[in-house]
Amino acid sequence: MSTIQSSVAVGAQSSALDVRKIREDFPILKRTMNGKPFVYLDNGATSLKPQAVIDAEIGYYTELGANIHRGVYEFSEKASALYDQARSKVAGFIGARDARQVVFTKSATESVNLIVYGWALKNIKPGDEICVSEIEHHANFVPWQMLAERCGATLRFIPLLPAEGTLDLSQLDQLINERTRVVAVTAMSNVTGYMPPLELILRRARAVGAITVVDGAQWVSHTAVDVESLDTDFLVFSAHKMCGPTGVGVLYGREQLLEEMDPFLFGGDMVQRVRKEKTVFKQIPDKFEAGTPNIAGVIGFGSAIDYLLGVGMEAIHAHEQQLLAYAMQQVSNVDTITTYGPSDLLSRGGILSFNVGDAHPHDTGTILDEDGIAVRTGLHCAHPFMHALGIPGTTRASFYLYNDKQDVDRLIASVRRVAEIFA
Ligand SMILES: Cc1ncc(COP(=O)(O)O)c(C=O)c1O
Repeated sequence: MSTIQSSVAVGAQSSALDVRKIREDFPILKRTMNGKPFVYLDNGATSLKPQAVIDAEIGYYTELGANIHRGVYEFSEKASALYDQARSKVAGFIGARDARQVVFTKSATESVNLIVYGWALKNIKPGDEICVSEIEHHANFVPWQMLAERCGATLRFIPLLPAEGTLDLSQLDQLINERTRVVAVTAMSNVTGYMPPLELILRRARAVGAITVVDGAQWVSHTAVDVESLDTDFLVFSAHKMCGPTGVGVLYGREQLLEEMDPFLFGGDMVQRVRKEKTVFKQIPDKFEAGTPNIAGVIGFGSAIDYLLGVGMEAIHAHEQQLLAYAMQQVSNVDTITTYGPSDLLSRGGILSFNVGDAHPHDTGTILDEDGIAVRTGLHCAHPFMHALGIPGTTRASFYLYNDKQDVDRLIASVRRVAEIFA
């Protein structure tokens, strides 16, 4: 926990993006909320969708409509091709060697569960250890806790340093040891935007032969990612946080591990041959995608990848860092504000979590709503993190490529109003 100082680590230069042009692509930004021009700062929860993504989804329903991997007619084959192309686009986006390493699920949450059910349940034994961090989103914590309970394994935590807002890595060699079978860690906290030193943690995990699971739900959407150089066994993320539709998640995995894994859902489309006595499954990734998938969503996701690549992931990251620096500078002029997360802004993505005096985050969120500003308030699906901070929650403003300095100015003006009301 840190009270804001007036100096910031990153200067608020002019944006690397043509934000005015980008904003034109997002129809919701033309709306008003409570009679005020809409300011969307809840990107950590989900992102808005550009018209191109909406059109891609609608285009599937209006022009194709067919199921995939079944029909031999033109529309079905076209739909199959678009679905399969989206997989290749996702693989390219994260630097995967082979599109077969990309499994479509319904969410990052389901992707973690797929690892737990498909790999961990048959590999984790009593006495084994699973290492997570104290700052995980529940999606990358509760499945491991359930697994540990079920298998008689022990859960270990890389602790938070509450004052610094970073993870305490001083005991890493003890926490990740020869008994550790899984290290599951976030690439970017959904509460503070803190990006732990992943490479260090993953290197230690590899040294003891543990498998590594990186939660990229807040990360892949905001920066250029290369899974080959990251050298992780698994990476999970969701389309809806990166300009894509809801209901589509990704599990990236090392080929050999995916091949060893059991399917988690059984039924049509994931089978090669079915006899009364025995069923033979398809190869990866198909064996994990039983039943009719979210075809429109995956096609829309492909379009979201095109859109993000068109803007440029490095430019998006730089833009969000500038917005965060500007927001930190502005917020430092407001008395009674407390922010959370490391003071080194270079170790953070574009998230500003704060409390205003004694105001409950829900009250803060309600006043911001009156001013037309959407933020997230509460515990952020990270109860252990909040517990470690000893607070009942925060208000979280999270930025994306279409946010600009005016959005930050509107936020600060509204936060000042909260400060006055609760003075
Ligand atoms: C860090 C992090 N991990 C995982 C998730 C879960 O993503 P989803 O709800 O799309 O499954 C979220 C969602 O907010 C998140 O912020």
